[in-house]
Amino acid sequence: MVHHHAEEPRHPHVCDLKTEYLVNPLGMDEPAPRFSYQLAGILAQTARQLRVRNDARDVVWDSGWVQDGSSQQIAYAGKALKPFTRYTWQVRVKDEAGQATAWSSEEAWFETGFLDTPWKHSKWITYWQGPRYDLAPQLFTHAFTLPAKKIAKARYYGTALGVYETLINGQNITDWVFTPGWTDYFHRVQYQCFDVTGLLQKGTNKLRITLGGGWFHGRIAHHWNNGEIPYGKTEMLRCEIHVTFADGSTQVIGSSQDFQTNNLGGPLRMSDIYDGEIYEAWRTPEWLEKTGPWFPALETDTKVQVVWNSGAPIRRLQTRPPEKIIHRRGSTWVVDFGQNLTGRERLILHNTVKGQALVIKHGEMLDKDGSVYVANLRSAKALTVYTADTAEEATYEPTFTFFGFRYLEISGWNGRLAKKDVQAVVLSSDLPRTGLFACNNDLLNQLYENVGWGLRSNFLDVPTDCPQRDERFGWTGDTQVFCNAATYNVFAPAFYAKWVTDLNLGQRPDGAYKFAAPDTTNSPGKPATGWGDAAIIVPWRLYVKYGDKRLLEKFFDNMDRYLKLELSNSKGTCVVDNEHFGDWLHIDAPTSKALIGTAYFAGSSRLLARIAKVLGKSNAARRLDMQYRKAREAFQQNFLNAKGLTEKTQTACLLALHFDLLPEKLVKPTVKLLVKDITVNRKLHLSTGFLGTPLLLPVLTRFGQLDLAYDLLLQTTYPGWLYPITQGATTMWERWNSYTHETGFGDVNMNSFNHYAYGAVAEWFYETIAGIQPLEDNPEALAFKHFRLAPQPGKRLDSANAVFFSPYGMIASSWMRDRRKNTLTWSFTVPDNTTAEITLPATEILSFSGNCELQHDADGRLIALPGEYELVLNLKG
Ligand code: BGC
Repeated sequence: MVHHHAEEPRHPHVCDLKTEYLVNPLGMDEPAPRFSYQLAGILAQTARQLRVRNDARDVVWDSGWVQDGSSQQIAYAGKALKPFTRYTWQVRVKDEAGQATAWSSEEAWFETGFLDTPWKHSKWITYWQGPRYDLAPQLFTHAFTLPAKKIAKARYYGTALGVYETLINGQNITDWVFTPGWTDYFHRVQYQCFDVTGLLQKGTNKLRITLGGGWFHGRIAHHWNNGEIPYGKTEMLRCEIHVTFADGSTQVIGSSQDFQTNNLGGPLRMSDIYDGEIYEAWRTPEWLEKTGPWFPALETDTKVQVVWNSGAPIRRLQTRPPEKIIHRRGSTWVVDFGQNLTGRERLILHNTVKGQALVIKHGEMLDKDGSVYVANLRSAKALTVYTADTAEEATYEPTFTFFGFRYLEISGWNGRLAKKDVQAVVLSSDLPRTGLFACNNDLLNQLYENVGWGLRSNFLDVPTDCPQRDERFGWTGDTQVFCNAATYNVFAPAFYAKWVTDLNLGQRPDGAYKFAAPDTTNSPGKPATGWGDAAIIVPWRLYVKYGDKRLLEKFFDNMDRYLKLELSNSKGTCVVDNEHFGDWLHIDAPTSKALIGTAYFAGSSRLLARIAKVLGKSNAARRLDMQYRKAREAFQQNFLNAKGLTEKTQTACLLALHFDLLPEKLVKPTVKLLVKDITVNRKLHLSTGFLGTPLLLPVLTRFGQLDLAYDLLLQTTYPGWLYPITQGATTMWERWNSYTHETGFGDVNMNSFNHYAYGAVAEWFYETIAGIQPLEDNPEALAFKHFRLAPQPGKRLDSANAVFFSPYGMIASSWMRDRRKNTLTWSFTVPDNTTAEITLPATEILSFSGNCELQHDADGRLIALPGEYELVLNLKG
């Protein structure tokens, strides 16, 4: 039965306008910002026109009608942008019939900041020229007077080598935390721009800035550098407040030696990312102001470049009440939030007495005896010590530190600790959520939730390995494997672009990338297979998923230099046998570094050849294609014999298959070897580590082993994705057996309970279970302008439901099996101005409803136009 839905009335319009991936950004200094928007009620855009005006309403760019269907990555090409200027922009489009919409009514804007002009009205200031070794944040104050005139607008521009918190007249100027964020401070630091119009007043205004060490000067910056502080000897800050009055006159307040500082410091006696915080509440601002001595701040300077804040802010995403509070003994309580997370506690204090100290430990697990487990934090103290001032109710939350924790142990609490007295504040880079997934298997749903928590917990301005122990670095390998899954779950182009930029700033002159970005050592690097390759893989993902070509353009030569270094290290043989991390944390199934190195070298050469083609670099593309073929040959010569792979691990098979390194006749036997190792040798278990694991399900699926992929995913015994869940995991763990009910904790030296790398598996939920896939080979398809819908339900799940908010709008795919009738009902949504290439999960259509018929294109592919569809398919036969 086939029928049409009556055409629903549509109100064509343009929506979701963004500039450089941001909604109405302040302090946006990209000279050619890229615009994007979505369409509603328009099947296909045939042309578009953008118009940008400055604050005098003059048109500074009119694109004219451009015959093009894309609504993403439209680069500004008008008059040079001016600093400190608000620009508004509008767009209109023509639909499939050539009918033009009205100009977008919703005016989008962006406001430039310094745009490469100097900070004329301020100096870098510091408290002590250094070197400083203690971890006590410093205070700066400044009082200034504004005339009795109406303020039209005021902007705070601020940055620091360190972390800063700014109060104007006692009020925090922003809900962002950990400003200015973490960049490669050997090269650059971000500044932020905040609208402070509402915080200023006529007459006297008071500015107070607390400056902590953060990533710049805290232990994270030097723990792994033999105690040397590589970024700089001491923290410093810089700020300017630009005030415009209603009469058009302006006044600028800038940091200088007019700012006051003192050597007593405020209530924060120590604040450090690894170690936590010591807070003495009696050292109030009033006490400080009286006590002094205050002295002028020291003016200083730095060569570090100040750049605009292109990434995402860190914010308090939520506050959670305790799930359980357990009395331990005397004044000691254990609080269980029921969820491992990144953030810090918020205490609502009452009944305290002056001088009373609270000591708070943070841990992800409980030990056998019920105490909070902290052994896996290694040298990170992760401790809060709070000394009370009065008995009055007070709220306390640490300022410049974060912890990875599910449990708190609070000692020194007066009386009974109640649920209302304490909360967990969840901190994360604040990125719009773009993905949802659910199915009828609760363990799988929990796995999906755990991946989400792994992401939230490890997206803290930088994508990190873990949030709790003395690490928390932007490890490249972890980022590389997780990036695809992450970019289904959240809108992360700017977040990753910032990281990729820092990765490239840290690249050594010989081409080696550091193992983590931002770099903290400024020391030589080494090419590390699967880790360094992040520099090629992550930008490619961003290109496919968001259409971002700029990173490819900007860093192509860097990527090429990296592969050239690997090639020269191999003495031209393409057998890349460097010292690297190998298939990190594999399960008694070592694969040689030479095999992994060579396979990845081939794979990255092939990918870079593709990138070269995208960039129109045909010579480089040819050279790199040749390099891929040479590496493939080298792989075959060194790691194959007549029967197949000389190394028989799952990871060896996966790499060979994934990077297409085998002669045709050895493909099937290798798949067989892989299947046998999983099913027979390992009794339906994986043996792979960081590099092999993400490839398992995609490769099995690609080579005809869908049912095995499902079986492996749904395995609940060790090792496998669901095993930690049976052991109580609420996040992704570093090891499958980081903890087991039977044997307790794993190796304490490397035992994080919040490590997202194995969360890479979530990409398969979207791409295979729900079947939402980008079309990587089609440059017209970028950012899901065209995409594939090809769900593969397998045999074991009864239903699955995924939603992905792509740059063009919401893609949905959900299916439900009727086991009695042996049918599958599949519904999907194709957003406006896109098309989907459909691969049906079964051949016979029993019923169809949709906005229009599925159509066949010239190549015989089944195509769905924008709309909503529901098909019932016959699964018999
Ligand atoms: C990190 C990893 C990282 C690895 C490199 C570890 O300490 O936590 O996730 O990729 O080192 O081998």
